[in-house]
Amino acid sequence: MDLDGTLREIADCSVLSDADAVAGYAVDWTGRWRGGPALVARPRTVEAVAAVLAACARAGVPVVPQGGNTGLVAGSVPPAGAVVLSLTGLDAIGSVVDGVVTAGAGVTLAALESFAAARGLTCGLSLASGESATVGGAAATNAGGAEVLRYGTARARIAGLRAVLSDGAVLDRCRPPAKDNTGYDLVDQLIGSEGTLAVITDVTWRLDPAPGERTVLALAFPSVSEAVAAVPVLRGLPGLLALEWSDGAAVARVAAHLDAPAPLPTDGCWVFAEFDGAPEAAGVVAGLLPDDRIAVGAGPEDRVRLWRYRARTTEAVNAAGVPVKLDVGVPLEEFAAARAAIVDAVAAVSPDVEPVLFGHLAEGNLHVNLLARAGDRIPEGLAEELESAVLEQVLTFGGTVSAEHGIGRAKRAWLARQRGDGQVALMRRLKSAWDPSGLLNPGVLFEREDR
Ligand code: FAD
Ligand code: MLT
Ligand code: ZN
Repeated sequence: MDLDGTLREIADCSVLSDADAVAGYAVDWTGRWRGGPALVARPRTVEAVAAVLAACARAGVPVVPQGGNTGLVAGSVPPAGAVVLSLTGLDAIGSVVDGVVTAGAGVTLAALESFAAARGLTCGLSLASGESATVGGAAATNAGGAEVLRYGTARARIAGLRAVLSDGAVLDRCRPPAKDNTGYDLVDQLIGSEGTLAVITDVTWRLDPAPGERTVLALAFPSVSEAVAAVPVLRGLPGLLALEWSDGAAVARVAAHLDAPAPLPTDGCWVFAEFDGAPEAAGVVAGLLPDDRIAVGAGPEDRVRLWRYRARTTEAVNAAGVPVKLDVGVPLEEFAAARAAIVDAVAAVSPDVEPVLFGHLAEGNLHVNLLARAGDRIPEGLAEELESAVLEQVLTFGGTVSAEHGIGRAKRAWLARQRGDGQVALMRRLKSAWDPSGLLNPGVLFEREDR
């Protein structure tokens, strides 16, 4: 029997092969990366996941795990002929025991957070993609987000997981003992492995007490260096949950997209500082800037109204065209100089490209989004030139070419530049140990022929 027929015989699994039905699984969120899956398998149980993987292994067909398909480095975009293994059907959430809960890989971050909020808790991972991004995807990418400074990245939130290997064998580390020094930490290896080592089916997630009423402050600094200089003061304030930034021009873009005039000047750099509670912080912050450069969002509606100038940037960028997305990090003391060097490097390659910059200030994380000033998209050759120009600058400043989105297929040429040949060789050996046939997400992290 052919693979399509074999997969259709698996219990608790639906299979899509019609071109229209698979189309949504073949393209990434930005529209830049496209693939050509042969089939999409949608299992609803761990047994069905194992059966799909075993069948693909027997047929020698590559498998691309996919959650919400919100990743920004083409990690879930299937090469031609691959099977997309969509995990969204694994959507059960268990009970809270000892402050953790086990959720199916397909549970969205929004669903996990509303489950937690109903119990006075938070999952501590806040992404603007949370309505679609899944806990499996968050684990596989070690996702970050706005509240990393308070709750850490996904790695800090995950207490255990269950996964299926490429031959169909199940690895169960859902509930490891709180203290357990027995050998290598296999859970930790799978976090951030981008679907190249195993398919995650369940994640045991740590929940924390939810913050009280939140207050967000937007601070419109006249320059990036003044914004960076304020970081130590803001970081020292009690109850800080998030510290984000946007170029004034990026805020102006969001304001135009939403048809909602910005409440503060957009000449420099905005900082968004969110607090648990109403900050005594407000007094301290008043000393940093004049009143007409500070806005306060207190109460749920005002908070969302102010946050949208940061949270909806990705949406505003996508509405303007197909972006080239870079996600870099630099030491905070180099932040202002690195940002200026990045802007100059882009202009030197092409004056026809507009950089839109924003990100996570607390971690020195810059999202560098590049848009064609005219037309829908930047041609691919130019995109690579721009990418090189920006990433070379980042390396010069001692930074990272991928702070939170991962390597995927989009950044694999830069992995060895960042980590060195020796570490990449070790990563390849790990890949071979977990996935000897090389059928799991080929082309992610490493060139296919290099695996
Ligand atoms: P997918 O996009 O489906 O997959 C991502 C990668 O994980 C792929 O390599 C895939 O093969 C693998 N994968 C997915 N599920 C599994 C599984 N169950 N087992 C094994 N491998 C799997 N990221 C951040 O870190 N911080 C942010 O603040 C942030 N904000 C975003 C805002 C927007 C508007 C958008 C569109 C994206 C944002 N992202 C952010 C990126 C993205 O949302 C995260 O990387 C998220 O964790 C991806 O989850 P997903 O379920 O969509 O995974
Ligand atoms: C964000 O912080 O908003 C995201 O990582 C999304 C993006 O980079 O566009
Ligand atoms: Zn981000």
